[in-house]
Amino acid sequence: MLAELSPKLIAEVQRAAKLLATKSRICVLTGAGVSAESGIPTFRDKQTGLWQHYRAEDLATPTAFERDPKLVWSWYQWRRQLVHDKTPNPAHLALAEWQQDAKKNKQSFTLITQNVDDLHEQAGSTVTHLHGHLWRNRCHDCGTPFQNEVAAWDSSKEAINFDDELVTCQHCDGYIRPDIVWFGEALPGQAWQTAEDAAANCEVFISVGTSSLVYPAAGLAHLAKQNGAKLIEINPDPTPNTIVDITLAVKAGVVMPLLLQQVIALS
Ligand code: OAD
Repeated sequence: MLAELSPKLIAEVQRAAKLLATKSRICVLTGAGVSAESGIPTFRDKQTGLWQHYRAEDLATPTAFERDPKLVWSWYQWRRQLVHDKTPNPAHLALAEWQQDAKKNKQSFTLITQNVDDLHEQAGSTVTHLHGHLWRNRCHDCGTPFQNEVAAWDSSKEAINFDDELVTCQHCDGYIRPDIVWFGEALPGQAWQTAEDAAANCEVFISVGTSSLVYPAAGLAHLAKQNGAKLIEINPDPTPNTIVDITLAVKAGVVMPLLLQQVIALS
């Protein structure tokens, strides 16, 4: 596998592995890029098909839903359809294996994601979701969770209803929406606390597949750095983030298994 990478990149992977092998508190933040190799477009990718004239940033807002709930609901139903048959790629699998190894060795390995898909869970990870869950719904007005076949997804995704028709809340008649954090909304308190604690206490913070543009999630790397952590970024198109110590400019699905292999070899 190493042969696929340039000598410079191999040296960087080895530098990262050496650093990681000596540390026992690791925090990983993933973004849309970690799911790209599973076939899920990232947010910065141009939308396709029916939605090519819309920007994700204009649909993922409470104002957009209040103005045109059917449009926003339809977009999420389309996204669900896009994602429902996708499976974890080698990056998700390596992260799950790493987390399980860390648990066995009584080390701390916290996985935080901005993604609303469930590919980390499918791979076997325990993960904190900062931006909610694509497969859950709740009332936009009273917040009551809505249980239907979309919410009650269990692995028989064939049975999911992707109907575009709006659904209303049994309690208050408000519209049901995806249980996702939209632009301008607060992050779930417990998830954010877990993320802040892990970032502030880790020795190495790894950003995987995120443009690091959306706050507060993007601030976690800064919090880690302020508390003395080293920063590793994995992104084929590295961000202009000047606080990063090691950049692995390669696809996560290529480099994550390799990095894990090297860390295990050195531990
Ligand atoms: P973005 O779409 O902003 O960024 C994805 C990043 O992944 C880019 O920097 C790509 O270069 C990188 N990338 C692409 N393919 C990759 C691969 N195979 N391996 C590694 N990296 C790869 O996604 P996020 O940073 O996750 O919020 O976006 C953050 C938030 O903004 C999202 O959670 C979403 C969005 O709008 C909400 O929906 C609230």
